[in-house]
Amino acid sequence: MSGQQRTVAVLGAGTMGSGIAIVMVRAGHRTVLFDVSEEGLARGIDTVNGFLDNSARLGKLTAEQAAEAKALLVGTTDLADLGPSDVVVEAVWEDLALKKDVFGQLDDVVSDRTLFHTNTSTLSVTGVASGSRLPERVVGTHYCNPAPLMKLVEVANGRHTASWATEATLEFMTSLGKTSVITKDRPGFIVNRFLIPWENSCINALEAGLGTVESIDTAVLGSVGHPMGPFRLLDIVGMDIHQQVATRLYEQLRDPRFFPPPMVDRMVASGDLGRKTGRGFYEYGDTKLFGS
Ligand SMILES: NC(=O)c1ccc[n+]([C@@H]2O[C@H](COP(=O)([O-])OP(=O)(O)OC[C@H]3O[C@@H](n4cnc5c(N)ncnc54)[C@H](O)[C@@H]3O)[C@@H](O)[C@H]2O)c1
Repeated sequence: MSGQQRTVAVLGAGTMGSGIAIVMVRAGHRTVLFDVSEEGLARGIDTVNGFLDNSARLGKLTAEQAAEAKALLVGTTDLADLGPSDVVVEAVWEDLALKKDVFGQLDDVVSDRTLFHTNTSTLSVTGVASGSRLPERVVGTHYCNPAPLMKLVEVANGRHTASWATEATLEFMTSLGKTSVITKDRPGFIVNRFLIPWENSCINALEAGLGTVESIDTAVLGSVGHPMGPFRLLDIVGMDIHQQVATRLYEQLRDPRFFPPPMVDRMVASGDLGRKTGRGFYEYGDTKLFGS
């Protein structure tokens, strides 16, 4: 699959779907972004176009490259438009019944050889795959947020995933310039097993007054060399999503390090979700999901 232009459907135009759509068009794939919400779709398309414009402004892409990438994207709220897809990447809300239903509906729209990728963070890939009449085509592909900036994708097979689907997925990841690691269909895969407890411990350090938002981010940048501090990252992830992922992993793993600190609940209750609401740990002048 590497090197060939593909037609990719991205389901869900939120934080992850819009980020994944940027990855697809930058790699030269025709991309159809699908959402059930007209408003969500419009916002997702704005995010993709804004990111590409900003990349051109910063000299990371030429103006022509940005225009070519933008021309590869179309948006739709009609599932029937996903018919020609070679690959479907699902990034809808983290709800098992919803994800199963979406894959079941897609079975009737796309070819039997279309690959189904699920970006679930906490659900079983096998469980999501059971929504499709062809679970052998379903592979877990867990993109790191922000998807356009982070290279890693975790690849997890469900119980019935066929080897052709895994191999095609790994080749596809190469076409995207991603680094893939194969992991098991287990709660948290690899990354969230360490990332969620680490993020929680940074929030606890803040709540204990060990530092400020800025000083803890600075300490992380200057010590362990992460590309961004925990609070900048959490503002991109979204506190509602962090709360949901941390709670679900706690429920499955029964390890208290995953349990979200009280500050998370207060931020969610007050609507301070991060970049998407314009305020989280930091204040933003807009509600753009991420910068270039
Ligand atoms: N935010 C993160 O850091 C992160 C990281 C990795 C994986 N994930 C996973 O990615 C998925 C999406 O998370 P997000 O943070 O982008 O959520 P989000 O709330 O930002 O976006 C979800 C989008 O899905 C849309 N949607 C709902 N039902 C739909 C349907 N039937 N068909 C099409 N679209 C539908 C919603 O309108 C919304 O635009 C979840 O499974 C989440 O666990 C999130």
